[in-house]
Amino acid sequence: MIRLQKLLSQAGVASRRAAETLITEGRVSVNGKMVLELGTKADPATDEIRVDGRRLKQTQETRRYILLYKPKGFVTTRNDPQRRRTVMDLLGEVKEYVYPVGRLDYDTEGLLLMTNDGELAAALTHPSHEVPRTYEALLAGMPDEDALERLRRGIPLDGRRTGAADVELLTPPKRDMDGVIRITIREGRNRQVRRMCEAIGHPVQKLARTRFGPIGDKRLKPGYWRELTPAEIKTLKALANRPRAPRPRSAGASRPSATPR
Ligand code: URA
Repeated sequence: MIRLQKLLSQAGVASRRAAETLITEGRVSVNGKMVLELGTKADPATDEIRVDGRRLKQTQETRRYILLYKPKGFVTTRNDPQRRRTVMDLLGEVKEYVYPVGRLDYDTEGLLLMTNDGELAAALTHPSHEVPRTYEALLAGMPDEDALERLRRGIPLDGRRTGAADVELLTPPKRDMDGVIRITIREGRNRQVRRMCEAIGHPVQKLARTRFGPIGDKRLKPGYWRELTPAEIKTLKALANRPRAPRPRSAGASRPSATPR
């Protein structure tokens, strides 16, 4: 038995929050009876669930797992109140209710997963899973080894140190050049890479995400997308189901403990 709002979001009908509204508006029925209670559970295998009278047929076939290369200048959201271009504008004919897994800034480009599998999306973005995200950043100026080491050890942001990062300089360390780094972080804090680089005195001029967890694709061009392969989906699900990290890893950090779900 699964809570109805979760079931509806997994089915790709709506986001979990929008599904709650559908329920409270009386638009959802289970076995012919209108359901208004948000906690109500149902079994998708045996119960007849309808939204606005239409039977829910949720299944693996209607699940979509999309890898998009977001160009800069697009907002990572389904709807932008400011009417800027959004990642949805790039998906064309995808008719399922997919949404972004996490977020890339307006000015950041790179790989973004989109899915209507609410359970997987929630697991991959939950802080306790520490899914690694790899970025390449063109910095202003050339960071020295000390600066790179500070990034690796963690930078205090909003009173809380970032976790350990893998950092590599991709350009030769010539002092009068701008450096490019590859950085892997395991958190998804707001504008994290930009703020970390700013803190070491080398603001980001250009930022691209090149990997999300086990998923990378050097051939995908900005503005294009593809379905994940069955093998990629399997790896992502394995990552989402793996036991959570127990620890605060960064020194002196008082992180809120992960809430059991
Ligand atoms: N870090 C940032 O600063 N921006 C992003 O979009 C992602 C990570």
